Amino acid sequence: MHHGTTITQFIAEEQRHAPGATGQFTALLNDIVTACKMISNQVNHGALIGALGSAGSENVQGETQKKLDVLSNQMFIQCTEWSGHVGALASEEMDEIYEIPKAYPRGRYLLTFDPLDGSSNIDVNVSVGTIFSILRMADTDGDATERDFLKAGTEQVAAGYALYGPSTMMVLTTGNGVNGFTLDQNIGEFILTHPNMTIPTDTAEFAINASNGRFWEAPVKRYVDECLVGKEGPRGKDFNMRWIASMVAEVHRILTRGGVFMYPMDSKMAEKGQGGKLRLLYEANPMSFVVEQAGGASITGKQRIMEMQPEGLHQRVPVILGSRNEVERLQGYHNEG
Ligand code: AHG
Ligand code: MN
Ligand code: MN
Ligand code: MN
Repeated sequence: MHHGTTITQFIAEEQRHAPGATGQFTALLNDIVTACKMISNQVNHGALIGALGSAGSENVQGETQKKLDVLSNQMFIQCTEWSGHVGALASEEMDEIYEIPKAYPRGRYLLTFDPLDGSSNIDVNVSVGTIFSILRMADTDGDATERDFLKAGTEQVAAGYALYGPSTMMVLTTGNGVNGFTLDQNIGEFILTHPNMTIPTDTAEFAINASNGRFWEAPVKRYVDECLVGKEGPRGKDFNMRWIASMVAEVHRILTRGGVFMYPMDSKMAEKGQGGKLRLLYEANPMSFVVEQAGGASITGKQRIMEMQPEGLHQRVPVILGSRNEVERLQGYHNEG
């Protein structure tokens, strides 16, 4: 069997043309790839290694942590902290930023990640993933602070995700399109299988947790109602619906065949003073970067997500992303309202 380009080769060749590249960024991406391979291995073995179930602890957002949430977080730290390429880390599963131990050199990149996305799927053996985003630290060196992480999504240097599904995949952007790689378990390498992924502009498929329907705002209600009426309504075609409860799997489906994904603002969250469900720095921004680079769009409702000025490490935002024409339609409904 002929094997194509490995992810390591792909990243190195892409960076060869980058002005001022020192190899730090390439090395950091490789460490992230290693972390995702380790997580993939744990996820694959599941119950055989006692990896399922709850860890009995809570994260800063009050979610019960699964064993694999905690383990994946540790693997990310372990694979990246030693290298001298990162200045600090931030993750869904850590209340504060993670400062690099004094024993290791500091680097010029900041890494944010959702170590295990879709963790309600773990125990039922359905797809989960990992999301990451890389930012550059300000040139004024010194120790990184939380403030250094509060950069708009447009400042991301790279972002991507790993999907632990029927096959393990890694999908990546460095601002130069989106490429997908599939893990060949026999040789332990991600191989380029999905070059230049693009999201179809139009779609007849949407994804939303409809159990929240009674709490949605008017523009989202209108959009979903029109999809449900189908051919008989203003859309003039029938729609299909999917909800996996793993943003990674959802975005991957959209990158593959189009669609729109929504976790919009609702009145229940508003009551709790919550700005949305998904987290800006390690879910919404990296996924928005990937989606936009694949020709799609990503908004909160009225605003482009990547232009938001973050106010906190774990800030939550409403997310509407996917096929460009559908997202623009939804933005239109929000602007009318
Ligand atoms: P996480 O498992 O990292 O906490 O994220 C779960 C997120 C996201 O992946 C998914 O789209 C959504 O939460 C599912 O929410 P519901 O359980 O409300 O459907
Ligand atoms: Mn969680
Ligand atoms: Mn998540
Ligand atoms: Mn998570």
